[in-house]
Amino acid sequence: IRMKKLNSILVIIISTLIVSSVSAQKFEGLAKTPPMGWNSWNKFGCNVSEKLIMETADAMVASGMKDAGYQYVVIDDCWQIARDSLGFIVADPQRFPSGIKALADYIHSKGLKFGIYSCAGDRTCAGRPGSRGHEYQDALMYAKWGVDYLKYDWCSTENLNAFGAYTTMSRAIREAGRPIVFSICEWGSNQPWLWGKEVGHLWRTTGDIYNCFDCIQDYGSWKSWGAMQILDLQEGLRQYAGPDHWNDPDMLEVGNGMSNNEERAHFSMWAMLAAPLIAGNDLRNMDPQTLNVLTNKEVIAINQDSLGIQGFRYAINDSVETWMKPLVNNEWAIFYLNRSKSPKNITVDWKNFSVKDDLSGKTFDTTGRNVFVIRDLWLKKEIGDTKKNLSATIPPHDILCLQIKQKQTKSSK
Ligand code: GLA
Repeated sequence: IRMKKLNSILVIIISTLIVSSVSAQKFEGLAKTPPMGWNSWNKFGCNVSEKLIMETADAMVASGMKDAGYQYVVIDDCWQIARDSLGFIVADPQRFPSGIKALADYIHSKGLKFGIYSCAGDRTCAGRPGSRGHEYQDALMYAKWGVDYLKYDWCSTENLNAFGAYTTMSRAIREAGRPIVFSICEWGSNQPWLWGKEVGHLWRTTGDIYNCFDCIQDYGSWKSWGAMQILDLQEGLRQYAGPDHWNDPDMLEVGNGMSNNEERAHFSMWAMLAAPLIAGNDLRNMDPQTLNVLTNKEVIAINQDSLGIQGFRYAINDSVETWMKPLVNNEWAIFYLNRSKSPKNITVDWKNFSVKDDLSGKTFDTTGRNVFVIRDLWLKKEIGDTKKNLSATIPPHDILCLQIKQKQTKSSK
């Protein structure tokens, strides 16, 4: 009898150990479509304050961005200033005099969600206290404050294993008990697409974006990348993305100075990539064109399509790239991106257009007798059907965004 008791106790202990080592994964289902929101870094850097964050939340609602689907308001680096004698993280009292909890409450009162930033290393990239050695303590604090989204960076991480460090924070969040979207920001250095799915909801695939359509900023020991360079760096990664686990090609630079054509092309391509749509501009002062780009609901719908299939580059002809993305109901998005500095003419011969996407198993085929309707997502109207060739001129650094759907026949209505 004693032996039996001992055995069953052992079984309980061992199974508890196994369960606690394999469970404790990320909160599932928080990002079934790519997260949408705003983050302070691209425009404001370290110049963050509760005033800015509150005004941004107000502007997100007033501008119509909330209606268009934007949800998270995320403070990036520099909100934190020290740790107290017990090791708890302390927000900068000058810049956040009401405290982070009050700020989170305010954002929630607007029907929005609240995000914050930390780093797996001892120090954040701007030199503020990082979470290394304080992961559980920080996660507990975030849960108490009402944080909904955590961006977790990768500076000062000497001798840390990326999978291990991000798993530690993911488990800390789980233990703290509040569902928090976990944004892995280690710049693609350790192939997070191979291990990120169980750990977080999105992972950066590259170094930082640079506010430029097509250029590289070289800082010597590191580089930051224009929108087109980031686009090229996504090569080979689409198979790793899907609902609740996204490739993150970094935050948007829409509204930070690119031409209107360029910001339209940049935004559309992030939609094509099923990328998180995290605005990075000053929402309090947007010109109408920028707002029009950020709130194009038809382009956003391509990004938020429930299949969550990342688009692919199908062809390159004379600097014009054809990108395709399968959508629900056998619809497709087809984008023509003009990367050159001169206008380009394109002709689409639908009679000879047949593509099979091996990854999703979806087929696009306009060669048969079925007729498909073509919608231009920037003109926001139907521009014809696949019975006759499409001819168009695409301005420099601009894009033509089409959505193709089956014609509603009388019998199918
Ligand atoms: C890194 C990240 C950026 C930003 C800064 C903050 O560079 O990649 O997105 O968070 O740190 O210091």
